[in-house]
Amino acid sequence: MTENASISPVPATHDGDIEQLFGVNGALSQAVAGFRPRQSQTEMAKAIANAIAQQKTLIAEAGTGTGKTFAYLVPALLWGGKVIVSTGTKNLQDQLYLRDIPTVRKALHAPVSVSLLKGRANYVCHFHLERTLQNGRLTAREDVGYLREISRFVKTTMTGDKAELSKVPESATVWNLVTSTRDTCLGAECQYYQDCFVMKARREAQQADVVVVNHHLFFADVALKDTGVAELLPSANTIIFDEAHQLPETATLFFGETVSTSQVLELCRDVLAEGLAHARDGAEWPKVVAPVERAARDLRLAFPQDLVRLAVNQIAPSSPFFPALEKLKDELEGMVAVLEKQAERAETIEQCRTRAVDIVAKLEKWNAAGEDGSSAAGQDRVFWIEAFTSSLQLHQTPLSIAPIFSKQREGAPRAWIFTSATLAVKNDFNHYASQMGLWNEPAQAWPSPFDYGQQGLLYVPDNLPEPNSYDYTDAVIDAALPMIEASGGRAFLLCTTLRAVNRAAERLREEFEKRKLPFPLMVQGEAGRTELLDRFRAAGNAVLIGSQSFWEGVDVRGEALSLVIIDKLPFSPPDDPVLAARIEALEKKGLNGFVHHQLPAAIINLKQGAGRLIRDESDRGVLMICDPRLISKPYGRRIWQSLPPFKRTRDAEVAKAFFSPREAE
Ligand SMILES: Nc1ncnc2c1ncn2[C@@H]1O[C@H](COP(=O)(O)OP(=O)(O)OP(=O)(O)O)[C@@H](O)[C@H]1O
Ligand code: SF4
Ligand SMILES: [Mg+2]
Repeated sequence: MTENASISPVPATHDGDIEQLFGVNGALSQAVAGFRPRQSQTEMAKAIANAIAQQKTLIAEAGTGTGKTFAYLVPALLWGGKVIVSTGTKNLQDQLYLRDIPTVRKALHAPVSVSLLKGRANYVCHFHLERTLQNGRLTAREDVGYLREISRFVKTTMTGDKAELSKVPESATVWNLVTSTRDTCLGAECQYYQDCFVMKARREAQQADVVVVNHHLFFADVALKDTGVAELLPSANTIIFDEAHQLPETATLFFGETVSTSQVLELCRDVLAEGLAHARDGAEWPKVVAPVERAARDLRLAFPQDLVRLAVNQIAPSSPFFPALEKLKDELEGMVAVLEKQAERAETIEQCRTRAVDIVAKLEKWNAAGEDGSSAAGQDRVFWIEAFTSSLQLHQTPLSIAPIFSKQREGAPRAWIFTSATLAVKNDFNHYASQMGLWNEPAQAWPSPFDYGQQGLLYVPDNLPEPNSYDYTDAVIDAALPMIEASGGRAFLLCTTLRAVNRAAERLREEFEKRKLPFPLMVQGEAGRTELLDRFRAAGNAVLIGSQSFWEGVDVRGEALSLVIIDKLPFSPPDDPVLAARIEALEKKGLNGFVHHQLPAAIINLKQGAGRLIRDESDRGVLMICDPRLISKPYGRRIWQSLPPFKRTRDAEVAKAFFSPREAE
């Protein structure tokens, strides 16, 4: 295993090497078709190489399409020692592992071993597969066929990664029954331990020079809890976060804690099944679980409406929620007592006991939060609930991840690289750095290689009503239609709410029919995201309507996407209890929550969206932002100034003309 000490403590500069490698006749240009030196990329690689050599932290922003991947892979593979690369999604992980890393490794003749590590739930679990084959409770009809495919697959696969089996869709429910979860893994006690895909992937990750993970896995396992992965972090010399703008959100998710009524019901199902299977005479199992199930359902019913989010201090003290919570905890404790007596009969019963104890512990924290009436038992956590149709989730979210994350970065010195196209607001990294606890760390931005002034146009239509007015979405559609016609489809319409998505879809469908426009319409939710995007690319003249989250990590190069329409500025919904608590905390410090939190977050979001439009030197397109606040509000200026330096217009004719065939030059 690589030790930290193996990296030279004497800071050496690699500037000369980098110049050469990224230069005209360098290793990359010989190995990568179409490679041409880009100054931003070369400079960024130098900065990263130096941060690695000095085991320092660097926040590095460079525009979409700059070539950040090579800029960090080259120094990492040459001088990084043991490297963890973490990126935003599993797709991006696959792309790094299958495409970018092999390219760079070959170009550099770097003898490094590489491993791909995903979250447990991505790997088939022999134990659960076997159990499902024997007594599977299949709910969907197609699952029978899928199960057959999966049992064939495990006989030939080296990795057990479900992404390899494309015949079974990622969303198929059967995966839940045959993949691994931390709650139900038997670990070293498992009869399949030696052949276990999860364990195998982890062993390989321990030994590899470069490990590719994703942010969810990093925070769920590497940085936190799961054994077998937790050892990775201490042995790493270099940690690189690509798509690092996502970290505050992902970290918040994992540094928080959630317990849900459906988790309780699942536990009850397992207790019943395992009890009957291994300790039939030990207890009257149906009677053991029934009161717990009832209490869980009653807790859900404490909130008559669906889809509400409330901070604990917004729940009336007289609400049935508090007694129902107490009751659920009591009933669970009763079940724990029974499980304790039977735990010796089977490993799976002992496991149920651990799960129940864990849930009780989480509920206890909630009781404390309810009693002192404040929004948090300590001041640093927000307690809030979220009610879904048939379940209730109880969340505890840290107000700030900065203290937690900076604590994790303590210890042995190592290089931490944070990179993305969108970390700064007008070259100011404060918002990001303070969220992540990277105070006083060096941060740098490099300009994009694209000529945005020529390639892109920002169009803000005139005469739109206020965004909170009743018929706002209709007004957006009225303004968008002439643009969609002019661009010949090839458009994304990104809405900030699902209600707007539905209304926009309804209107566009009507209008396309009425005007006999041939553009295929694709709406989020009709199919999986990957499939919708594939269809969109293939159609060449399609219009896709999605919610705001849709535009991140979406890569549609070239002509198929030439118009991005945004209905409203993407401010987070004001009813978000965590946001509300964060703003309150800022204001207590005398800072303006809007200026210091909501605005920069919205800007970073918008920059991501704008990044979808221009993906290479020859891409062209119009970014149409419908929100009148961009012009009418004092902060509007700050927003458009943070976007790529597109040409700007408010004139529909000028915007439409952008799509007419260019005059001979
Ligand atoms: N110097 C170069 N010359 C030509 N092509 C390059 C160069 N560097 C990288 N590329 C190619 O450009 C494309 C974009 O690179 P990359 O994915 O690293 O961009 P990025 O900066 O990470 O952008 P994003 O923020 O959108 O992820 C890739 O296909 C890559 O192979
Ligand atoms: S060790 Fe855990 S994940 Fe691996 S096969 Fe056994 S139960 Fe499944
Ligand atoms: Mg990238």
